[in-house]
Amino acid sequence: MKLIFLKPQNLKFILRIFVENFFSKIFKREEISGEVKKYVFENAIRNNPDSVLKAMDNFAKNRRFLMNIGDIKGSLLINQLKKIGSDLTILELGCFCGYSAILMAKNLTKFGKVVSLEVNKTYARNALEIIKYAGLEDKIIVIEGSSEKIIGTLRYRFDLVLLDHWKNLYKRDLIAIEKRGLLKNGSIIFADNVGKLISALAGERGYSNDYLDYVRNNNNYTNINIKTYLEYSMAEDEVEISTYSLDY
Ligand SMILES: C[S@@+](CC[C@H](N)C(=O)[O-])C[C@H]1O[C@@H](n2cnc3c(N)ncnc32)[C@H](O)[C@@H]1O
Repeated sequence: MKLIFLKPQNLKFILRIFVENFFSKIFKREEISGEVKKYVFENAIRNNPDSVLKAMDNFAKNRRFLMNIGDIKGSLLINQLKKIGSDLTILELGCFCGYSAILMAKNLTKFGKVVSLEVNKTYARNALEIIKYAGLEDKIIVIEGSSEKIIGTLRYRFDLVLLDHWKNLYKRDLIAIEKRGLLKNGSIIFADNVGKLISALAGERGYSNDYLDYVRNNNNYTNINIKTYLEYSMAEDEVEISTYSLDY
């Protein structure tokens, strides 16, 4: 048993996940993104992104945990986005149900775009339906496929990259993004879930130490680490915000 699990705020979160997983196995619950979609259609107002996000937050707080960026880290992300403008081209690795894509897109003008990659077919399909329900299909392109395959086909240059897929892929994929020439001078890389709790809880998929070593020991990046809370909980999490500079 790792000590980090025993901190009361972390323990509460771990117990929630344990209980939800236990009941999901016994009662064979519906596929999660389909259940989220149904909930959004029943509870949110069409063409109203705020109402769609609120419905997803309610679902995650009161029904089943969702690995969305959530409201607290979401506002950290939007603070960064607003610093660089609103006609932005954004790359997201890990779309899930479309929460962070909707959150970013609603802060962009009609000239802005979010390109969001998702390896899980069902998630990608349901995310697109939720995005359409939110009225943001003109600003968000969901590409179904693995980052490993898709990054090498992209042609945009991105103002902001949200790394929010499996954490052990962050370093590999950022290097692929650099090599493909997809970054600009001043591009921001926002890496979610780089805290120690996720590393300890999620095993290999939660491991981001090699990513942190990479950006922190690289003259092309200046980095800020923010200690915050894991989505929909008071458990520990961190985000790393790195600014890319071509000048070096
Ligand atoms: C934490 S969730 C993303 C949450 C989403 N960004 C949000 O805040 O609403 C991580 C997602 O990454 C996807 N994923 C994992 N590895 C991937 C890869 N190599 N390429 C694309 N998507 C991947 C998973 O299927 C999962 O849906």
